[in-house]
Amino acid sequence: MSQATPKAHQQAGNLWSSRMAFILAAVGSAVGLGNIWKFPYITGENGGGAFVLIYLACIALVGIPVLIAEVMVGRRGGQSPVASMRELTTAEGTAKGWRLIGWNGIIASFLVLSFYSVIGGWALAYVGKIASGVFTGADAATIGGAFEGMLASTGDLLLWHSIFMAVVVLIVGRGIRSGMEKAINTLMPLLFVLLFIMVGYATTTGKFGEAVSFMFSPDFSKLTTEGVLKALGHAAFTLSIGIGVMMAYGSYLPQKVNIARTAMTIAFMDTGVALLAGLAIFPLVFANGLEPGAGPGLIFVTLPLAFGQMTGGVLFGTLFFGLLLVAALTSAISMLEPVVEWLEEHKGISRAKSAFFGGLAIWLVGIGTVLSFNVWSDIHPLGFLPYFEGKTLFDLLDFLVSSLMMPLGGLAIALFVGWAMQRQGLDDEIGLKGAVYSAFMFVLRYLTPAGIAVVFLYNLL
Ligand code: TRP
Repeated sequence: MSQATPKAHQQAGNLWSSRMAFILAAVGSAVGLGNIWKFPYITGENGGGAFVLIYLACIALVGIPVLIAEVMVGRRGGQSPVASMRELTTAEGTAKGWRLIGWNGIIASFLVLSFYSVIGGWALAYVGKIASGVFTGADAATIGGAFEGMLASTGDLLLWHSIFMAVVVLIVGRGIRSGMEKAINTLMPLLFVLLFIMVGYATTTGKFGEAVSFMFSPDFSKLTTEGVLKALGHAAFTLSIGIGVMMAYGSYLPQKVNIARTAMTIAFMDTGVALLAGLAIFPLVFANGLEPGAGPGLIFVTLPLAFGQMTGGVLFGTLFFGLLLVAALTSAISMLEPVVEWLEEHKGISRAKSAFFGGLAIWLVGIGTVLSFNVWSDIHPLGFLPYFEGKTLFDLLDFLVSSLMMPLGGLAIALFVGWAMQRQGLDDEIGLKGAVYSAFMFVLRYLTPAGIAVVFLYNLL
C-alpha cells in the first residue's frame, strides 16, 4: 500500500518548475493525434459544420469545466489519481464510490494508449516515407494504395507500434520532467508555424471557401445522435480529460498557479490546433476529389498528396509528420503517466521498472489494434448488436474509451467537485472570484452533467 502523504508531490518539492512548464506539458498532452488525425476524419464522417458546432459547444460546456475540476482535484490530492481520490474522499467525508474515478482513469489510460501507439506508429512511418520522396508527384490513387499497403502489413504496423511504445517507455521511465519541458517548449510553437504554412498552402487550391463552408455552415440534417456522442467524446479526448491524466499532471502543479486561467489557455490552444488542421486538410480533400468521410486514413492520404505537389514538399512534409509524431509522443507520455504513478505507489517498484512493465502490457494489448487493420479486419466482436455492426476491435476500443469511459469519467469528476466536495476555499483553489465563480459552479453542477446525461440517454433510446 501507499506510504504517500497528502500532497506528496507538493511536500517533496517535486513540481513543475513554473506555470508555463505546466501549460506546455498539459498542451503537450492535449494536442496530439486527436487534433490533427482524429478531428478532421470524424468531422468528415459526420458531415462537417453541425458536428463542429456541437463539438465547440461540448468544449465550452463540458470540456473546460471538467478540465478545471480535474486539475484542481489532482492538485488537492497531490498523488496518482487512485491515491488522490482515496485521499480526498476521506478528507472531504464523501462516499467511497467516488474512488472509481481513479480506477476508471488507470484502466482507460491503459486501453487508450494501446491503440494510440499504433496510430502514432503510422506517423512515425510517414516521417520516413515522405523524407524518402516516394510521394513526390504521385497521384491520389498511388498514395491511397501506399496507405492501404501499410495497413495490410501486420509486420510493418507491429514494428512501428513497437518503436513508438519503446520511445514512450524510455521517456516516462526517466521522469516526467527531465527533457520534456524543453522539447515541448520549442516544438509546439513550430507545430503552429507549420500548420499556418499548410493553411496558407490550402488557400491556393481554390477550394478553401468550400472547405470553410463545409466546416462552419451547419447542416443539422447530416448530424446523427451517434455523431453528437462522438462530438462529446472527442471534446473529452482532445482535452485529455475524464481519465485522470490531467489529475496526475495537476498533482505536480505549484499551489500559486491559477487553475481556471491556465485551463482556458490549454483549451484555447488545443481547439486552435484542431481547427487549423481542418482548414489545412479539407481544401486538399475537395481539390483532389477525395471523400471527406474516408475515415482514419484521411490525413495520411491528403497531406502526402499536397506535399508531393508543393515546392519544398519533402522538407515541409517531413517536418510536418515529424511534429505530428512529437505531438503524439507528448500525448502518449501523458497516458502512461497515471499507470506508472500507480505502479510506483501501489506496487512499490521503481519508476523505470513501472514504465517498462506497464509499457510492455500496453504494447501487448496494442497488438489487437494492429491486427484489426489486417488479419482481424473482418472480425466484428460485438457485430450482432446493431450499434456495433461492422466495427473492428480497434473501433470497439476507441468507442469504449472515447465515447464511454472519458465522458462518464468527466461526468463523475463534475459531480464530485460540484456536489460532493466541500465548498470551503474552492473558489481560491480554482482561482475564480464572485460572480464568475458562481457562474462556473452553476455550469459544473447543472449544465455539464445534464449535457452528458442527455447525450447518453439519446444514444441509449
Ligand atoms: N488529447 C490527446 C489527443 O488529442 C490524447 C490524449 C492524451 C488523451 N492523453 C489523454 C485523451 C488522456 C484522453 C485522456 O491526441
